[in-house]
Amino acid sequence: MAELGSRKDEHLDIALSEDVEAIDKTTWLEHVHLVHRALPEMDLDEVDMTVELLGKRLRAPLIIDSMTGGSERGLEVNRGLARAAGRLGIGMGVGSQRAALENPQLRRSFEVVRDEAPDIFLYANIGAPQLVRGFGIEEAKRCVEMIRADALAIHLNPLQEAIQVGGEPNYRGILDRIKDVVESVDVPVIVKEVGSGLSRETIALLESVGVSAFNVAGAGGTSWAGVESIRAARLGDDDRAHLGRVFWDWGIPTAAAIIEAKSVTGKPVIASGGMRSGLDVAKALALGADVAAMALPVLKALSSGGEEGAVGFLSSIVEEMRLTMFLTGSRNVRELRSSRYILTGELVEWARSLEVA
Ligand SMILES: Cc1cc2nc3c(=O)[nH]c(=O)nc-3n(C[C@H](O)[C@H](O)[C@H](O)COP(=O)(O)O)c2cc1C
Repeated sequence: MAELGSRKDEHLDIALSEDVEAIDKTTWLEHVHLVHRALPEMDLDEVDMTVELLGKRLRAPLIIDSMTGGSERGLEVNRGLARAAGRLGIGMGVGSQRAALENPQLRRSFEVVRDEAPDIFLYANIGAPQLVRGFGIEEAKRCVEMIRADALAIHLNPLQEAIQVGGEPNYRGILDRIKDVVESVDVPVIVKEVGSGLSRETIALLESVGVSAFNVAGAGGTSWAGVESIRAARLGDDDRAHLGRVFWDWGIPTAAAIIEAKSVTGKPVIASGGMRSGLDVAKALALGADVAAMALPVLKALSSGGEEGAVGFLSSIVEEMRLTMFLTGSRNVRELRSSRYILTGELVEWARSLEVA
């Protein structure tokens, strides 16, 4: 238990002190070109960014993606993130709640989020590998109840588990367990990756068992092979450190993952993995995503500037999004999602392989 809390703290420490983002890979959003409209025929102030996701309204199509909890430090991070999300009326996910399931004293580090932000769209979080190793329907329900969540996110992280010192890379039987959870919890289930992306085959399987929304969390942002490689090196496990370096950039670039998702599902798609500006978010939405989510940059803004730093950073993302909407003549997110864009480079080849370009 203490070991798990300390691992989550090690992750925070590594994410904040080392360079853990993709090295040679990008999100490929640079291959998405929104078409400038010199006659937008609207006032910048008219842009309406509100969206509805799984029955709840967000003031902007933005979510602080799942990160932490399960320790004193995690509690403080969650408090700051929740306050920022509440002030901006955007969504948030908590990090894996496994530690609090194993040690009820750690529940507070998650509960704080709902206390600080009673009205936000909030998702609970549990790891898929835990669903085949001891946790089941009861634990999934407890995660939801702990933070009065609007949805439950189940994360898929096969690469991370394979690199992690002490990881559990056993994914046998997980789809059936996800089906059990979907049928038993009272809230919609979101399945998310953590930075390697969801393919259309994966999404089709998940949709067949009733999953309600997909957070593609593609490659181009935080690399979990990278984080675990650095952690393995710190622990003196040179083989895993090397394995993590080889697979550092593994995964489906986020732009390609959104196209994969949209080629197979009409359910909500959350674009995550390397979203670093409001322009990135607008491009992801033009590709068809419903909302975007960001993790690492929000953590960095909170760490360096506290709650005000996080609010300032997220507000700038929203303003960048607003300007992009103005410059594409999009009065609202629905119009942005149907605005014209051009794909170039490798993304065209990828899209062509799906027969959508
Ligand atoms: C410090 C840190 C901790 C994370 N912990 C979790 C977690 O517990 N559960 C989860 O589903 N994803 C976790 N993630 C993954 C993020 O939710 C997100 O999918 C991924 O980092 C890609 O987004 P980014 O490039 O904006 O960081 C974590 C990310 C960071 C940076």
